[in-house]
Amino acid sequence: MPDSSATLGTWHRQQCDSAGEIVGCIKGRICHDEADLDSCIGFSKPAGGFAPHAEQISPAVVWPIAALLDLEIYKVFRRRGLGSTALDQFFAYARAEGAWIAFLRVGWWGCGDRYAARDRNISWYSRRGFRELKPAAPQILTPYMYRFLG
Ligand SMILES: CC(C)(COP(=O)(O)OP(=O)(O)OC[C@H]1O[C@@H](n2cnc3c(N)ncnc32)[C@H](O)[C@@H]1OP(=O)(O)O)[C@@H](O)C(=O)NCCC(=O)NCCS
Repeated sequence: MPDSSATLGTWHRQQCDSAGEIVGCIKGRICHDEADLDSCIGFSKPAGGFAPHAEQISPAVVWPIAALLDLEIYKVFRRRGLGSTALDQFFAYARAEGAWIAFLRVGWWGCGDRYAARDRNISWYSRRGFRELKPAAPQILTPYMYRFLG
């Protein structure tokens, strides 16, 4: 069984494959208002707050929002569909908690070309229904993405 916990609205679980081996981890949080979202996504300082992003979410921001805070599948287990499965489980958890929107800040992981890693992640999430939000300021290099659930 995957280790799973939901403390104070934060959901954290080890991701396992069908044989029960731990292959990665995923973390999310159900955010009920802007302050809550800001406390875990942290965009108020570099990104000028949530408002410039919220106005790009169509048709409207609906609370609660499910913030995806971390998703990692360990390198040797990638490209087997496990990341997609983990994301689907996060969506199911988010819907069960009443969320209609999933939101994330794209991570820059690993060594090598970090811009390439970021762009790969943007593509990966885009293929899974996420839309990229325009940065609120030119210095912001970690894009935010969202998708409707349902
Ligand atoms: C992003 C990440 C979670 C994806 O995990 P993953 O397990 O490789 O994801 P999937 O296997 O579901 O998808 C990867 C590709 O493999 C393909 N794939 C799925 N099952 C497959 C299989 N059995 N055989 C071969 N390829 C397969 C998928 O179709 C997908 O390609 P696509 O995006 O063109 O559709 C993983 O690369 C990772 O942990 N990266 C480092 C951490 C990180 O950057 N996280 C995101 C931070 S926001």
